Amino acid sequence: TYTRSYPNPAQDLPRLIKEYAKLLADGKLVAFPTETVYGLGGDATNEEAVKGIFAAKERPFFDPLIVHIAELSQLDGLVAEVSEQANVLMQQFWPGPLTLVMKKHPQVADIVTAGSETIAVRMPANPLALALIKASGKPIAAPSANRFGYTSPTTAEHVREQLSGRIAAILDGGACTVGIESTVLALHTKIPTILRPGKIGVQELSPLLGEVALAKQAGPTDTKLESPGLLESHYAPTTPLYLVDDVRQYQSCKDVGVLLFEDIGISFQGPVAYISEDKDSETAAMRLYWAIRKLDGMGLRFMVCSLLPEQGIGVAINNRLRKAATKKEQPSC
Ligand code: TXA
Ligand code: MG
Repeated sequence: TYTRSYPNPAQDLPRLIKEYAKLLADGKLVAFPTETVYGLGGDATNEEAVKGIFAAKERPFFDPLIVHIAELSQLDGLVAEVSEQANVLMQQFWPGPLTLVMKKHPQVADIVTAGSETIAVRMPANPLALALIKASGKPIAAPSANRFGYTSPTTAEHVREQLSGRIAAILDGGACTVGIESTVLALHTKIPTILRPGKIGVQELSPLLGEVALAKQAGPTDTKLESPGLLESHYAPTTPLYLVDDVRQYQSCKDVGVLLFEDIGISFQGPVAYISEDKDSETAAMRLYWAIRKLDGMGLRFMVCSLLPEQGIGVAINNRLRKAATKKEQPSC
């Protein structure tokens, strides 16, 4: 199963970090681990490098990137100003899985922000990510290291499956510990607004900010979205995923995969992947994409899952499940 794992000890990490940082500084693309998911990094100040990111992912240009930094001084030239609110959040949550959307510095290339006047910035907590960014001397633009629309990668192997041959290097840091993408929080709006839910939620943010809004997540008929990541179908596996009221009704379906958050004491004919064993939501976040990928690789007719209670990180997990599931019906087997 998927557990906390560590970089292969046979790797000479200090040497690799130096080598890969040089690749980044030279405009090449390097995938690297963060505490959330693996990122596909390129120098945010090099337009050709940033174009390469979009090409490798087959990502449309309307979807802006998150710029990753290792020290606060790197905010110079990225953001127009750091508000008092931003300052408080950075003190509290950086390095960590919180992305802040702020007014951008005029120097930032349009391709990074998809022409927006705002820029998304985060300081990741993974020590390898911090060391790599720092050694490159550059702010690093990095979307999740998957092909556009597919499930985000939480191991180096996941990155290899989708991007090998398209990028210069992959830094293997073992399995990601948070497991779902960072919270994206807009600070340029009147009320701070969560554009993408993540591990850091309203509960953690509102003591510092007061009112915090949660952006409406896209439905099938929405056209204008506050954040393109709010596209309805995203994080999607190839095998159709259905969100069902009760997975028990699929007990006797042979070619249907079941995603479970706890042992429900019955056996299934089809394959089962435990996202967690005891409904522990932190574990569930960590293993969510691994479990989806595991079943997705089995050539099943479809897979089923039920949602978690809408609280804490469960809000973010349900958000990803809803986006991974395109169909709303309850199929029969
Ligand atoms: O955890 C993460 O955030 C990972 C790791 C690698 O750091 N990165 C990640 O990047 O998930 P990506 O590109 O897959 O998702 C970035 C999200 C998208 O939903 C994008 O629309 C939103 O951030 N975003 C980026 N810039 C924005 C901006 N200026 N305004 C609003 N949303 C923005
Ligand atoms: Mg992504």
